[in-house]
Amino acid sequence: MSSLFDPITLRGVTLRNRIGVSPMCQYSSVDGEVNDWHLVHLGSRAAGGAGLVLTEGTAVLPEGRITPSDLGLWRDGHVEGHARIVRFLKSQGAAAGIQLAHAGRKAARLPPWELDPREQQGRPLTEEEGAWPLDGASPLAFDDGYAAPREMTGEEIRRTVEAFAAAARRADAAGYDWLEVHAAHGYLLHSFNSPLSNRRGDEYGGTLENRCRITREVAQAVRSVWPAGKVLSFRLSHTDWTDGGWSTGDTVQLARWLKEDGVDLIDVSSGGNVPRPTIPFGPGYQVPGAEAVRSGAGIPVAAVGMILEPSQAEGIIREGQADLVYLGREMLRDPYWPLRAAVALDRTGEARVPVQYNTAWMRLGTFALEPLSVPRISSKR
Ligand SMILES: Cc1cc2nc3c(=O)[nH]c(=O)nc-3n(C[C@H](O)[C@H](O)[C@H](O)COP(=O)(O)O)c2cc1C
Repeated sequence: MSSLFDPITLRGVTLRNRIGVSPMCQYSSVDGEVNDWHLVHLGSRAAGGAGLVLTEGTAVLPEGRITPSDLGLWRDGHVEGHARIVRFLKSQGAAAGIQLAHAGRKAARLPPWELDPREQQGRPLTEEEGAWPLDGASPLAFDDGYAAPREMTGEEIRRTVEAFAAAARRADAAGYDWLEVHAAHGYLLHSFNSPLSNRRGDEYGGTLENRCRITREVAQAVRSVWPAGKVLSFRLSHTDWTDGGWSTGDTVQLARWLKEDGVDLIDVSSGGNVPRPTIPFGPGYQVPGAEAVRSGAGIPVAAVGMILEPSQAEGIIREGQADLVYLGREMLRDPYWPLRAAVALDRTGEARVPVQYNTAWMRLGTFALEPLSVPRISSKR
């Protein structure tokens, strides 16, 4: 029986605990470049004690960006910025992970807050704002206010698969140890997998096997360039929450195939491919999906979605419902959630505090100290 603060090793990567920072778009980049915001945002969560810190969805091609402000890794010039993030995350004892993404028919939008700081959805870019044509499985718009994508040709699919592999090579050069491919939330790969958005008549449409072909090709292409000692994971939406759509059973089958293709872990999310489905939101609402994939495909999983309380997270790991928990919004509310969880669960001995912050935490427990972040005084004078 494992616990939230037990380390876990997959391939050659050991996480100090089972807590991951879920990928979260910051829409703060110019031309795909990393800047100080990304370093401070991700770095704070590593200092806060997470075992794994994942970047936001990082575009493998410029046309695969949700907005012009998404992070990217489509050219070699992007690598150094990512390397800076990786160095800092590792200095804090966290594993450094990147999520690679292509937004497909949900690309080319304005960042949500450009219209109104309270806005959630954004809107399509206009021509003057630099809109670009959308790529998709079939010419079906996601919703009102979204353009219909062009049906990608076989050649365009091949180039996109190669772009995932090229970005994976760059992620390796930047020093990331953990790579997650975004195949959820209605973005490009999910839109091929789901029968609701894929009406193709070629070898990429029709049967489940055909619809999942591009996702498997990405897995195989990435695995072939991604070192054997590093972790490859996929984020899948386990259901479209819509009759006749992508289902948990389909996810289990795809997870089995991905396992054959060398994928090590499935990050189990849901939804995003259908506007306004009825979703049973509530604490841990996607955990049953994670559990189904874990037991059905025999592959490690991460659970995500309204994991809020330390005892809830501990229960998910203890009960064997998932191998990791990823936290999104809770980490935006409190980057020190993992340290607070260690206090709440009486596991401070297994959690590390940056040595610079120990005066604030020592009265709450006996933490291990993280000295890696401190420049050492040279003894040679
Ligand atoms: C601001 C924000 C940005 C997000 N961006 C991404 C993303 O880039 N990739 C992704 O797979 N999910 C993204 N998500 C979804 C989160 O990773 C997570 O799955 C979701 O918020 C549910 O977890 P939570 O209830 O802990 O927030 C985002 C969520 C938020 C709140």
